[in-house]
Parts: sequence; C-alpha cells; structure tokens
Amino acid sequence: MAMGSASCISLVVLVALATAASGQLSSTFYDTSCPRALVAIKSGVAAAVSSDPRMGASLLRLHFHDCFVQGCDASVLLTGMEQNAGPNVGSLRGFGVIDNIKTQLESVCKQTVSCADILTVAARDSVVALGGPSWTVPLGRRDSTTASASLANSDLPGPSSSRSQLEAALLKKNLNTVDMVALSGAHTIGKAQCSNFRTRIYGGDTNINTAFATSLKANCPQSGGNTNLANLDTMTPNAFDNAYYTNLLSQKGLLHSDQVLFNNETTDNTVRNFASNAAAFSSAFTTAMIKMGNIAPLTGTQGQIRLSCSKVNS
Ligand code: HEM
Repeated sequence: MAMGSASCISLVVLVALATAASGQLSSTFYDTSCPRALVAIKSGVAAAVSSDPRMGASLLRLHFHDCFVQGCDASVLLTGMEQNAGPNVGSLRGFGVIDNIKTQLESVCKQTVSCADILTVAARDSVVALGGPSWTVPLGRRDSTTASASLANSDLPGPSSSRSQLEAALLKKNLNTVDMVALSGAHTIGKAQCSNFRTRIYGGDTNINTAFATSLKANCPQSGGNTNLANLDTMTPNAFDNAYYTNLLSQKGLLHSDQVLFNNETTDNTVRNFASNAAAFSSAFTTAMIKMGNIAPLTGTQGQIRLSCSKVNS
C-alpha cells in the first residue's frame, strides 16, 4: 500500500516534470533573459503602424497564418515554402518589420527572443496601435526548422468558405464557434484584393447590400484588376473597433466568409451581440487571440531560436 502510493506520487511528479519540460508558456519568460524585449517590439510596431496603418492589419494576419500551420512557430517567416502557398502568395506583408525588430533584439539579447514570440507580441501591439484591446501574451515559443506549403494550403480557410467549413477549420485548431466569430472581427482592419471578393459582388451572393456591391465594382472590374484593394471594414478601416459586426448586420461584409457569419445562421446572435456591445467583442477577441497564440508551440529544447527570422540557423 505504502509502495503503491509512493509510485503513485512519483508518477504524478514525472507527469508534472514532463509537462514543465514540454513547456507551459509564461508571460514573464524574458523578464531576466531579455527585459527590453517587449518594449523593443512595441516601439518597432508603433513606428511601422504610424507610417503605414495597414501594417497593423498585415502583422495581425501574419500571426494567424503562422499559428494555423504547424502551430505558432514562425514557419511562415521562412523564405519560400509556406509563403508560396495559395492563401499567402502575393498577399502576406510585414516580413521586413519583423526582421527589423529581430535585428534590434539580436543586438541587445543574442539568440534569446524567438521569431515566433516576436510575431505573437507584434500582433497584440498592432491591435493596440490601432485602438483595440490589449492582453497579456504568454511567451516562450521557439522557432521551427521547417515550413509546409501543403499544410498552409490545407489548414488556412479561404474567402469562399461556408460557415460550416470555417467552423471545421477552426475546430481543427481547438477554436470554437464564438472564437471563430470573434477572430473574424480582425477584419475590422486591413484590405482584401479584388480576386477575393469579385464573385460576391457580381451576383455570386444574394446577401449583399446593393449599393455596397455597386460601390465596390468601381475598383474591382469583372475581369482584370485582380490585385486592386478594398477595405475589409467599409466604415472605419484603420480603427480596431466592432464596426465589422455592424457592417454584417447591413450585409456589408466584404468577403463571402465574413457575411456567412450573419446569414440566418446559428452565429447571428453572436454577431448582434458583438455589434451592440464593444466590451463583449473585446473580451471574446482577446480570449480567442490567446488561444490561437497557444496553438502547438515549440518549447523547451524543441526547434531553435533563429538568428534571422527568414532562415534557419546554419
Ligand atoms: C475565418 C477565416 C478567415 C478567412 C477565410 C480569411 C480570409 C482573408 C482574406 C481572403 C483576406 C484578404 C487577403 C488578400 O486579399 O490579400 C484577409 C485579410 C485579412 N485577414 Fe483574414 N481570414 C480569416 C480569418 C482571419 C483571422 C483569424 C485573422 C486574425 C486574427 C485575420 C486577419 C486578417 C487581416 C488583419 C487582414 C487584412 C490584412 C492586410 O491588410 O494586409 N483573418 N483574410
């Protein structure tokens, strides 16, 4: 009996050690090893967003596209590979901003702060720089030595997705339906290319405001102009607010995958709630961002701390 409980206790200790080794992320991870890390990232992001407000949107999206493919491991920052996948090519922006922040951090804390953590914090600081909510970011991710274009193609949802396809793509990453509606609120900032909403404005969708569709056609012709841009939030494109949801209520979501969230569906009430209650949106968004940032991180001795975010260490 005594032996039994002793081995039981050792098992508990072993499990606890294994959990610690696989690594819980911690918001104080760099407090001693690189106390200036968070300040440096914040000022790098603030400078980039003040000269180009869209950069805040681009950095937020970069983090999403990182986390959904192999986890938040900076795989998306490696030159080539994932960057050439359908949802990414000709569309992702912000690599230079992350590279500059990394260069600065290397000069103060050599090979200490991972690219995956820089990108996670930069996403939070981008939201804050555009007037959105703040949250505490768990830290301690390490960087991958691989990237996968095929996983990027299979795991990133596309703009023509139905609501159930979106739900399935997010559930695969352990994100629930409320997380999905909240994270889609990131489309309160930034832009999309004509090729991603052309079908919606030329008769492919019936749940679109007619005047809104007409106004978009001016810069998104039926053929050509594929890369012409439109704001994802027609009301306040450079402010991180809850206007995205108000737009959905009047059928002014830019992408098909936006409007499916408010289309006589089970998500309608969540959209109504976020449209009328900015605090409810902020709270759900920050919760979901922390969950997304915790997808399959490399920790402990896994992966590496890259010296340069665009390539693995030689
Ligand atoms: C739910 C499924 C989602 C789909 C189908 C989707 C799709 C898209 C598409 C097609 C674009 C335009 C890309 C282009 O035309 O170049 C875009 C832009 C954007 N997405 Fe999403 N997205 C989704 C979720 C998210 C999430 C979870 C986030 C972040 C939390 C996010 C943040 C953004 C931002 C900020 C932009 C604008 C980027 C810029 O202006 O550079 N999206 N998204």
